[in-house]
Amino acid sequence: MSPSEIDPRSFAVEDRLAGVSRIVGVTGSKGGIGKSVVASTLALTLADRGMRVGLFDLDFTSPSDHVVLGVSRSFPEEEFGIEPHLAHGIHLMSIAFFAGDAAVPLRGGATTNALLELLAITRWGELEVLVLDMPPGLGDTSLDVIRLLPRLEFLLVGNGSKVVVESVKRALQLFSELDVPMVGLLENMRRGSDDAVASLAATVGVPFLGSVPYDPDLEAALGDVDQLRQSILYRSLVGVLTP
Ligand SMILES: Nc1ncnc2c1ncn2[C@@H]1O[C@H](COP(=O)(O)OP(=O)(O)O)[C@@H](O)[C@H]1O
Ligand SMILES: [Mg+2]
Repeated sequence: MSPSEIDPRSFAVEDRLAGVSRIVGVTGSKGGIGKSVVASTLALTLADRGMRVGLFDLDFTSPSDHVVLGVSRSFPEEEFGIEPHLAHGIHLMSIAFFAGDAAVPLRGGATTNALLELLAITRWGELEVLVLDMPPGLGDTSLDVIRLLPRLEFLLVGNGSKVVVESVKRALQLFSELDVPMVGLLENMRRGSDDAVASLAATVGVPFLGSVPYDPDLEAALGDVDQLRQSILYRSLVGVLTP
């Protein structure tokens, strides 16, 4: 975007996020790798420890965080902007609150527009951490948040599959070129004893945040935060963003 094309809403974005101390995007170079369950469960671990935490589902075409956390649709309150929905101590914003069960097909420009609009109108207030659940890949939304949110840090989710390791490598290279700080690399759905993810982190000099095993019981816990709190995923994520 050239200076003459700067959208005036981008200035409102800075104001809206002025009270947010950290912005952590949970990203992954591929879909189905566990970004949404990690982002939602991570936010839950922080809220359970008394932190003021927000969760923003940026996968507009396939929002999932409300499903993981078992939050039913509630149209956000409007007053000088919109208030995220407070559920289980998490300030949650999702396009699902507006769209309900309808599909949200968006082309490139419309995705950027939806992102800017929601960032410009959402009143996050004072938060210690805002977790962003990123859509798959490194497309418009990823490039937009990197551009719009200079304080953004990424937590990258990967697994040991050759195809994933390859794309994680590319993502890390891009984030390094764009100077995006990394919280670190998290291995999810670990099945065997291969250390490809940990060694990749070591090779590129990114903190390795640990391995979450494949958990056949996770599916049953989705939508029920009490069960989620008992999951291996929850226990693996405690302490990832706190000392
Ligand atoms: N550690 C895990 N063990 C078992 N299933 C998992 C694990 N992590 C994620 N899943 C499952 O994988 C699927 C994709 O997860 P999701 O968070 O939607 O991925 P993404 O957001 O990266 O597309 C979901 O069905 C989720 O429950
Ligand atoms: Mg997702």
